[in-house]
Amino acid sequence: MTEPLLRVENLVKHYREGGSTIHAVNGVSFEVYPGEAVGLVGESGCGKSTTARCILRLEDPTSGRIVFEGRDLTALPPSQLRELRQHLQIVFQDPHESLNPRFTVRRTLREPLFLHGLYRDESQLTDAVEHVNLERDHLRRYPHQLSGGQKQRVGVARAMMTHPQFVVLDEPTSSLDMSLRIHMLALLRRLQREMNMAYLFISHDLSTVRHLCDRVLVMYLGRIIEMGPTEEVFNRPRHVYTRALLSAIPIPDPTVKRERLLLKGETPSPRQLKPGCALQDRCPFVTEECLRPVPFYPLGNGHYAACRLAKEDA
Ligand SMILES: Nc1ncnc2c1ncn2[C@@H]1O[C@H](COP(=O)(O)OP(=O)(O)OP(=O)(O)O)[C@@H](O)[C@H]1O
Ligand SMILES: [Mg+2]
Repeated sequence: MTEPLLRVENLVKHYREGGSTIHAVNGVSFEVYPGEAVGLVGESGCGKSTTARCILRLEDPTSGRIVFEGRDLTALPPSQLRELRQHLQIVFQDPHESLNPRFTVRRTLREPLFLHGLYRDESQLTDAVEHVNLERDHLRRYPHQLSGGQKQRVGVARAMMTHPQFVVLDEPTSSLDMSLRIHMLALLRRLQREMNMAYLFISHDLSTVRHLCDRVLVMYLGRIIEMGPTEEVFNRPRHVYTRALLSAIPIPDPTVKRERLLLKGETPSPRQLKPGCALQDRCPFVTEECLRPVPFYPLGNGHYAACRLAKEDA
C-alpha cells in the first residue's frame, strides 16, 4: 500500500473572539494519497478554508498534526517549512485579492521560482502561461489588464510553477461564470493528470466535486461526518446530513425518484461545541445515542460515516 502524501491528524482550530470561542475546526482527520483528487464539501462556515489554511501553515492549528511526506509541519522550524512550501501550494477563491496589483504576470510567476532557487530562464514563464491557455503577451500585463477568468488562470499557473505534489484549491471557480467554470475545471483536471499532483478541492458545489474528485470528505460544523470514494458517497450517502445535502439537488429526470430529507432549523453557531453528533439539533432521527461521541462506521471500500444509522450497514 502506498504511503499517504498528507495526513491530517485530529486537527483543531479555535478562535477567541469577544470572550467566547469559535470552534471552527473540531478534530478533523483524513489522508491524501499521491496524485489523488480529494473533495472537501460542506456549507458556508463549516470550516473548509480554516482546515486548508492550517494544512499550509498559513495559520497555526490549536492542536493536531499535519504530516506531509512523513514530516510533521506543525513542528518544523520556519526555514524547513519554507523549503517544503514548493511542494504544497494553494489557489485562492478570489484572484482579485490573491494577485499583487503592482506585479506584472511575469513577476508574479517568477516569484516562486526565485524564492526556491528554481529560476533558469524565460522559457519557464512562457511555458507556464501557455500551459494555462494564456498567451505570452499576457506576461507583460498587470492584474487590472486581465479578465476575471484570466486572473484566476494566473493564480493557477503561479501555484503550479514549482511543480508541487499537493495543491489546495479553495473554491477556485466560484468567482467565474458558468462557461468559464467548465473551462477551468477541464484545465485543472488536465494539469493534475499531466503533473500527477494531489488536490484538495474545496467547494460547496457538489456537482463540481463529483466531476473532479476521486474521493470526497463531507464536513459539517467543523467535523468530517462522512468520507469515501466519490461515487459511493453520492450514490449511497449514509450520514443524515449528506443525505439531506444530496436530496436538495434537483434531478433533471422526473422519472427518477429520490428521498426528500429536510433538516430541522438552522445550522447552530460554532460558538457552542456539543459532544456527540454535530447534527443532533437538526436531525429527524436523533436518539440518546447521538448525544455521545459517534465513531466512524466503516462501510467498505474506504467509505465511512459517523452516523448511528450507518451502524447497521457496517
Ligand atoms: N480569523 C478568524 N477569526 C474568527 N473566526 C473565524 C476566523 N476565520 C474563520 N472564522 C470562523 O470560523 C468558521 C469557519 O470559517 P471558514 O472560513 O473555515 O468556513 P468555510 O467552510 O471556508 O466557509 P465558506 O464556504 O463560506 O468559504 C466560521 O464560523 C468563521 O466565521
Ligand atoms: Mg472558505
